[in-house]
Amino acid sequence: MPFSLPIHNVYQPVDPGQHFPPGFVWGVATSAYQIEGAAVADGKGESIWDRFCRQPGTIADGSNGDVACDHLHRLEEDLDLIAALEVDAYRFSVSWPRVQPLGQGAWNEAGLRCYQRLVDGLVARGVRPYLTLNHWDLPQALQDQDGWANRATVQHFVDYALGMHRHLGQRVAAITTHNEPWVIAKLGHEDGSFAPGLRSRAVAMQVAHHLLLSHGLAMQALRADGCTAPLGIVLNLSPVQPATDSTADAARARLEDGLLLRWYMDPLLRGAYPQDVLDHLGADAPQVQPGDMAAIATPMDFLGVNYYTRAVVSADAPFDVTRSGLPLTDMGWEVYPEGLTELLLRVHRDYPVPPIFVTENGGAFADSLAAGQVHDRDRTDYIASHIAAVGAALRQGVPMAGYMVWSLLDNFEWASGYAKRFGIVHVDYATQRRTAKDSAHWYRRFLQRQRSARGQQPAAAQGA
Ligand code: FCB
Repeated sequence: MPFSLPIHNVYQPVDPGQHFPPGFVWGVATSAYQIEGAAVADGKGESIWDRFCRQPGTIADGSNGDVACDHLHRLEEDLDLIAALEVDAYRFSVSWPRVQPLGQGAWNEAGLRCYQRLVDGLVARGVRPYLTLNHWDLPQALQDQDGWANRATVQHFVDYALGMHRHLGQRVAAITTHNEPWVIAKLGHEDGSFAPGLRSRAVAMQVAHHLLLSHGLAMQALRADGCTAPLGIVLNLSPVQPATDSTADAARARLEDGLLLRWYMDPLLRGAYPQDVLDHLGADAPQVQPGDMAAIATPMDFLGVNYYTRAVVSADAPFDVTRSGLPLTDMGWEVYPEGLTELLLRVHRDYPVPPIFVTENGGAFADSLAAGQVHDRDRTDYIASHIAAVGAALRQGVPMAGYMVWSLLDNFEWASGYAKRFGIVHVDYATQRRTAKDSAHWYRRFLQRQRSARGQQPAAAQGA
């Protein structure tokens, strides 16, 4: 039975206003490990997140993604849910070890069928599939050979990208190589708070280089293979602001901006790493081979930006967000929509950017489900104000192409486990029952208003 979204009187935030241009893509996003479950089913290989979650002390609530939202067993229901939201696009990721258990060599037909069903189900419902190849769950078998620190993983990733293209053909609307290489490198290999849990800055910077290189080489290989889908990468970016106007804080902010934003944007769009960051890294700078930088700078069709909050840095102590007076989400992140406009204007000013999608944006808030409703006014405000921030960037000339809410469903929020809820649809993990929150109702109505202002039908009604 198709999922339906009963209309009830939901909270109306300030309308984000202006009408976005025709063709602007509205979506919702998820990732494989956070929702799929079926962690050991049908020949799937182990991922670094399967392994990491089993190490004591890594995940706040001791949980893991073994079941998560049980999405793969509820695929039809979830597809109907996505269609009921009347979004244009659904951004999801493929679990590499589900389709290629060892990360090289043999393919797992049962795993491939999952994504064929997903993509076919989206297309049949008029929702465009936006596929991400790497949302962090590297096959453990590759990690056993040093994973992203090993240059051989670059070629394995290119082969995986080609294999997915050959299996899914031209049915996907866009392909993202990597989700948030900074997180993989920094949190996974320097801080050790995310899988694979390593702690070495030199390793982290080599990992970042191999991720960027594999992105460029995979795009080249996909295009040579006849792939016509737009290709790009997704970066987690924030404006980095100094806590005070001291020279020391300004210098620190410049360095953090270098490590977070320029380390990725400079090679992708200008073909070179930022010299000040290379100088700072010294012996921790990565080994780069001839031709690598040109490969990384292979032109992209789009850039994905994930935005949640700003970064405020100070030279001595970590910045205390509670002193800023801004509302905080359940992650302890400041709600700062102006930062999104500021960030988009800056990347447009400093780089020859392709069309930009906000590929993730959303807020974790403590929800309560009562009588089949979740009145998540804070999340609705968060989303509406950030959509308005995208509109402000558009009006000032930034080539914005789309916006996607993180997330479709409450899900496994990595090291925070299940306590942090980002979904516009509530998940009761005991029953796996899905309940659209007020934010989901609001988002659907907002999209309806956008379309009627443009005289358009939802994609599903057009049979697009
Ligand atoms: C991003 C991740 C995504 C989700 C959000 C909250 O860094 O890409 O999977 O966890 O944060």
